[in-house]
Amino acid sequence: MELGIRGRRALIGGASSGLGRAIAERLAAEGCDIAVTARRRDILEWLATDLATRHGIRAVAVPADLADPAAPAAMARTATEALGGIDILVLNAGGPPPVDPTATTPDGWAAAFRLLAAGPIELATALLPAMRTQGWGRIVAVGSYAVRQPIDELAYSNAGRSALIAWLKTVSRAVAADGITVNGALPGRHATPRTEQLERAASERTGRSLEEIRAGHLAAIPARRYGRPDEFAAYVAWLCSEPAAYQTGTFTSIDGGILIGLP
Ligand SMILES: NC(=O)c1ccc[n+]([C@@H]2O[C@H](COP(=O)([O-])OP(=O)(O)OC[C@H]3O[C@@H](n4cnc5c(N)ncnc54)[C@H](OP(=O)(O)O)[C@@H]3O)[C@@H](O)[C@H]2O)c1
Repeated sequence: MELGIRGRRALIGGASSGLGRAIAERLAAEGCDIAVTARRRDILEWLATDLATRHGIRAVAVPADLADPAAPAAMARTATEALGGIDILVLNAGGPPPVDPTATTPDGWAAAFRLLAAGPIELATALLPAMRTQGWGRIVAVGSYAVRQPIDELAYSNAGRSALIAWLKTVSRAVAADGITVNGALPGRHATPRTEQLERAASERTGRSLEEIRAGHLAAIPARRYGRPDEFAAYVAWLCSEPAAYQTGTFTSIDGGILIGLP
């Protein structure tokens, strides 16, 4: 299917690894110009050069730490100047650490809400006015199925991501008449460095082997396998597309069937 986004300019978060990197790859393959952001400058610069060379597009690295309160405004400004504007924004970064839900702390909440809610909201807020003026925009958040079915050891993530989605849903209605769609894709369990890192942490915490931990995870996935980042990226690319112009305010789980309740 022709996605109709050749030449659109996309800013993609968490692009140095996992799902964000797969999204950058997919949007570059669709002919978008790309600004990749995350903290690791060396990977981003290599990736930007690689994407530009292989796909014949413009690609720039915008290194930033979304945990820094000054970062969202600076990211929006740098990416806009580099590409001449931003049409597509993919909100994505890392996840907070696991925590005992009965032992959360004020500092833990502050860090989680900055990374998962305040930072993305400020970034989208900085880019929305230009999207509204031009009458076209796509905002897609990478969330987690945990906003529908909380994960026991990820209280910070469950709550922080839910706050972001509540704002996105609200703003989707405010900007729908301006040609802007706002959606979310909620990963289940995909084969990425973050998944491996959480599994190693669970193994250390519980004393169970990595194999046992993984077997438990697979047993909870009806598809009996982890998702591939490129499968996830294909859905995000659809949300960014021209034919998806009438889909807004949706938050869909891409999870091999993990969610048990009705959608
Ligand atoms: N994979 C899954 O199955 C799954 C399931 C549910 C939810 N999620 C969520 O989906 C998102 C992407 O997951 P993933 O699996 O792709 O993780 P990943 O492979 O660990 O990638 C995370 C990305 O975010 C960047 N990042 C981390 N902290 C950042 C910060 N403070 N500022 C800016 N960028 C930051 C990382 O790059 P740098 O280190 O270079 O900054 C990296 O590019 C995460 O929020 C994750 O919690 C994933």
